[in-house]
Amino acid sequence: MSTLAVLGCMWGDEAKAKIVDFLGDNADVVVRFQGGSNAGHTICVDDKKYVFHSVPSGILYPGTKCVIGAGVVIEPFDLMAEIAELEAHNISFTGRLYIDERAGVVLPLHKDLDAGSEISSGAHKIGTTKRGIGPAYSDMVARVGIRLGDLQYPEWLRSRLQNIYSYHKIERSDADIENETSRLHEIWKQMQGYICQVDNLLRKWYLDDQYILFEGAQGTLLDVSYGTYPFVTSSHTMAGGISTGCGVPMRYVDKIIGVYKAYCTRVGDGPFPTELNDAIGDKIRVQGNEFGSTTGRPRRCGWFDAVAAQYTARLNGIDAAAVTLLDVLSGLEEIKICTGYWHNGVKLREIPTNPLIMGEVVPEYLSMKGWDKDITEIRSINKLPRAAQDYLEAIQDMLEIPIEIVSVGKNRNQTIVIK
Ligand code: IMP
Repeated sequence: MSTLAVLGCMWGDEAKAKIVDFLGDNADVVVRFQGGSNAGHTICVDDKKYVFHSVPSGILYPGTKCVIGAGVVIEPFDLMAEIAELEAHNISFTGRLYIDERAGVVLPLHKDLDAGSEISSGAHKIGTTKRGIGPAYSDMVARVGIRLGDLQYPEWLRSRLQNIYSYHKIERSDADIENETSRLHEIWKQMQGYICQVDNLLRKWYLDDQYILFEGAQGTLLDVSYGTYPFVTSSHTMAGGISTGCGVPMRYVDKIIGVYKAYCTRVGDGPFPTELNDAIGDKIRVQGNEFGSTTGRPRRCGWFDAVAAQYTARLNGIDAAAVTLLDVLSGLEEIKICTGYWHNGVKLREIPTNPLIMGEVVPEYLSMKGWDKDITEIRSINKLPRAAQDYLEAIQDMLEIPIEIVSVGKNRNQTIVIK
């Protein structure tokens, strides 16, 4: 096996970065293929915490090359600031970062549009990260977007800026356009050593049998087509996004690991059938430190939703699952798993695609015994309390996919490998 994809399978924040980091110690290449700085990937090593927004998580391993594909949208100033901060921690980027020149650029305009996106208000409010992600992707699809490679040519860039402002019917003086053109061209000069066509490199590295790890951002239930639309992000977060997001054929992906939290969380608006608006939800939020790493917002918490989990496992064609944050559930007397949805007295066979219906479903629960013991120092599945093993087995049975990794703490070594 030479390639592996690690994908979030719920509403994001499944601790994908920890799994990428755990599996990435011998990776030659780690690739981000979608999303942007809306992601907040956290890795803890030796009590040091790193949060990545656009840089692939593999950067912590000195020998690993990191790639950002054309399917990502990049705020160039934020990216360079992120790089500078990591360099201050002695992490070297020289000869290790490759960014596709076709990646979309997030402009201040996009952040402004996102911040003011109360067009989505009331029942339609999405609660975005306000990083300009949706507006930047919209402009790419509308073909008025600016790509990283455009920043190289000031004359062309100037005309692209004029075009995008006129598309949005926003008045900009010539001096403002000039100023933005030169700022963007200057930042391009600082980035140019990283900019290339990554599909050519990935093809070469794949044929050289290098170990390539594709790192998903957000989660399948936030996919723009298959997630809980419209309460989704604006990219393809599922396996199909890999191919279009970095320009490799789908057959380059040998194995897909789906990451599931041992419970569910969601940040932002939208339906969440198993949400716990009670003391248990609060307890999970505190124990799991469930506050957004990008926005600091408290995450909504709820029971594991096997209906949604099975849906995403099938959509992605997942080969194996990683279950994370199992330790957070320690101390709960009872733990529930949602095994079905009821709507108006009818048991649904499929996950509803309409958010109104999804918001009205009543979950059917399997109740399981909890466990008291602190499990953060356990490194073997057989040493877990019987109730925790039963819980994992129940999830595995419902997913119909083997669980290969269980995470019992935020640190790299707090991991149980089943296979
Ligand atoms: P956007 O991606 O900023 O446009 O936000 C759209 C929706 O996706 C909102 O509900 C966000 O909270 C959610 N979202 C975006 N990125 C992440 C993430 O990395 N983790 C969890 N939720 C996210």
